[in-house]
Amino acid sequence: MKSIIVVGAQWGDEGKGKIVDIYSEFADTIVRPTGGNNAGHTLVVKGEKFVFHLIPSGILHAGKKCVVSNGVVVDPKVLLMEIGRLKERGYLKDDGQLKVGLLANIIFPYHISLDKAREEKLGNRKIGTTARGIGPCYEDKIARVGIRACDLVRPKALEEALRANLDMKNFLLEKYYGAEGVPFQATYDEYLAYGERLKPYLIDTSLFINEEIQRGAKILFEGAQGTLLDIDHGTYPFVTSSNTTAGGACTGSGVSPTKIRGVIGVSKAYATRVGGGPFPTELLDEEGQAIRDRGNEYGSTTGRPRRCGWFDAPVVRYAHRLNGLAGVALTKLDVLSGLARLKVCVAYEIDGVRREEVPLSLAEFEAARPVYEQVEGWKEDVSSAREFGDLPKAAQRYVRMLEEVTGVEISVVSVGADRNQTIIRKNPFRA
Ligand code: GDP
Ligand code: IMO
Ligand code: MG
Repeated sequence: MKSIIVVGAQWGDEGKGKIVDIYSEFADTIVRPTGGNNAGHTLVVKGEKFVFHLIPSGILHAGKKCVVSNGVVVDPKVLLMEIGRLKERGYLKDDGQLKVGLLANIIFPYHISLDKAREEKLGNRKIGTTARGIGPCYEDKIARVGIRACDLVRPKALEEALRANLDMKNFLLEKYYGAEGVPFQATYDEYLAYGERLKPYLIDTSLFINEEIQRGAKILFEGAQGTLLDIDHGTYPFVTSSNTTAGGACTGSGVSPTKIRGVIGVSKAYATRVGGGPFPTELLDEEGQAIRDRGNEYGSTTGRPRRCGWFDAPVVRYAHRLNGLAGVALTKLDVLSGLARLKVCVAYEIDGVRREEVPLSLAEFEAARPVYEQVEGWKEDVSSAREFGDLPKAAQRYVRMLEEVTGVEISVVSVGADRNQTIIRKNPFRA
């Protein structure tokens, strides 16, 4: 058992891409098990920036296999664009490096139109989705009417499934939402062409990954979104439509939990969230703006400003409970440099009662007031620290305090966006 799952421990955008890129050096195969191009995973290598929406963040490591597995909802246009951009930049020279699941559900234009139309109708109760068609595509999968990658290379199957879907989707779009419908012929031709271009990558990814495991390969699963966005355990309905927690990596890729060695959670040294939903430690003042500015907290997928707030320990403890974290990779510690004092939420107060756990009801979560502990900040720039001992004493104390209040060891401290701006205290592939 040599395989590791990386998950987001907060509301997404924790820096999973950077951490996966670093761990990729020690893995053989990197797998995206869930989500779609709602994800935006950023890596910076020697000052050069890459943002991946579907392709695993290990792809820059030549010779490592990367898998987009069956649990991912794939927008073929976006995937092909990513493939093209990588090739332009001199990567993915060998097409055999990338594998895409034959059973992955495909995002069609009507999913995107429905996502947008539904959000518009919700008005100020909208979820704040990424408008990439993720929810409607997962709905079709669960309703057993989805069109999968294997159908794109079978013209007759595609025609039948697309006609049946459009019949219903166009009714919904035109009659219920008053939006534009999606034409059959143009969509059919477009998707058949995508199928042709994707054909070289399409395989039985569960078989491939399990054969890799059999021959002793180390698999790295790259979770998308974050624990609090999980469809079952997150701040429903302000969540995404997949299981973002560790179990989702197994079901999404067709790999048994018995093959997993451990799970690493990624968390920022503070908290952010994009879209609607409860966020108890949110800072709506100039301190929040200062964190947004220093941390460049604007979405990698949609460019939306991210909501910013203090570190929320009950949230990370919850992530620990749901994922069984062997360690936390703490990112963006550098962003906190220069703040005179920092606050850490250690519990909530709801209706005058102190609560240690994340509340399950949305109303309670929305009413939760953070109980803060204040800690001293540090002035020094920490971005060139490479050992824990290089950090100012106050920064070391902050990291240790986060370990105490979450109950999880902090195994990586990230002090900048670049691959090398990282302090690795423990390597999960070696531990
Ligand atoms: P992901 O979705 O979890 O992969 O995270 P995103 O890529 O959406 O957002 C994280 C952002 O923080 C990206 O712009 C990263 O380049 C950047 N980042 C990651 N780690 C650090 C860090 O330690 N310090 C700073 N300043 N930026 C970081
Ligand atoms: P990565 O992998 C942050 C959020 C959206 C919205 C909700 C539902 O980069 O961390 P959806 O389009 O999935 O139906 O939107 O989930 N969301 C993310 N927030 N990071 C992500 O991915 C996200 N993927 C979805 O903002 O609130
Ligand atoms: Mg992101």
